[in-house]
Amino acid sequence: MKLNEINQLIKCLGREAWVVTSAHAGQCNGLIATFVSPISIVPDLPRFAVALSKLHHTWTLVEGSGALAVHLLTADQADLALRFGTQTGREVDKFAGVAHHTGVTGSPLLSDAKGWLDCRVEASFDTGDRTIYLVEVVAGDFSGDFSPLTQAQLLGLATPDQLQILRTQLAADAAQDAIAIRKWRAKNVKDSR
Ligand SMILES: Cc1cc2nc3c(=O)[nH]c(=O)nc-3n(C[C@H](O)[C@H](O)[C@H](O)COP(=O)(O)O)c2cc1C
Repeated sequence: MKLNEINQLIKCLGREAWVVTSAHAGQCNGLIATFVSPISIVPDLPRFAVALSKLHHTWTLVEGSGALAVHLLTADQADLALRFGTQTGREVDKFAGVAHHTGVTGSPLLSDAKGWLDCRVEASFDTGDRTIYLVEVVAGDFSGDFSPLTQAQLLGLATPDQLQILRTQLAADAAQDAIAIRKWRAKNVKDSR
C-alpha cells in the first residue's frame, strides 16, 4: 500500500479548524476539530457529522449532554482556537476569560465566533477510536464575508512551543487510536486482518 501517497492526499485537503464545544453537569469545554462536515442537502433540515475522539474530555460532555456547538473562527483568532486544541479541559478551564453565552441546547457559544451552529445529537456511531455524531442543527448564526480559519493556517500561526505540544499530543493520541481501531476491526469487520 502506498501509505506515503495516501497520507499526502489526506494532508492536502483544505480543512477548516472548527471549535466544538459542549456542556454537561455544570462543566463547559471545547476542542479544535477538523472532522466536521455538513451531510444534508435539504435547506430546512441542516445536519452535520462530527467525529470526536473518545480520549478527549469534550467527548465525555457530548456523551452526557447529547448536544454540541461548532464554531468557525478567522486567522486572527488562531490564539483562541489554539487554547482549545493544546490542552485538556480535564486540567484547565478553557472558558476562563473567554466571552461566551449558552445556546438553546445548553452548549456554550463563543461570542466572538464569526459563525456557529448549535446542534443536538440524533445518532452516533462508534468507530473504535472515535464516535461519529450525526447532529441536527437547531440554531446558528453567520456573520458573512470572512475566510474560516483552516488547519494549515492554524499550524502556520502556532508558536514553536505550541507546535511541539500539538505534535506530542498527536503522536500519543495516534498510538492509542491505532490500538482502538484494530480492536474495533477485530470485533466488527468479518474479514479484518
Ligand atoms: C488541527 C487540529 C485538528 C483536530 N481535529 C480533531 C478532531 O476532528 N476530533 C477530535 O476529537 N480531536 C481533534 N483534535 C484534537 C483536540 O482538539 C485536542 O486533543 C484537544 O486538546 C482535546 O481537548 P479536551 O480533552 O479538552 O476535549 C484536533 C487538534 C488539532 C490541533
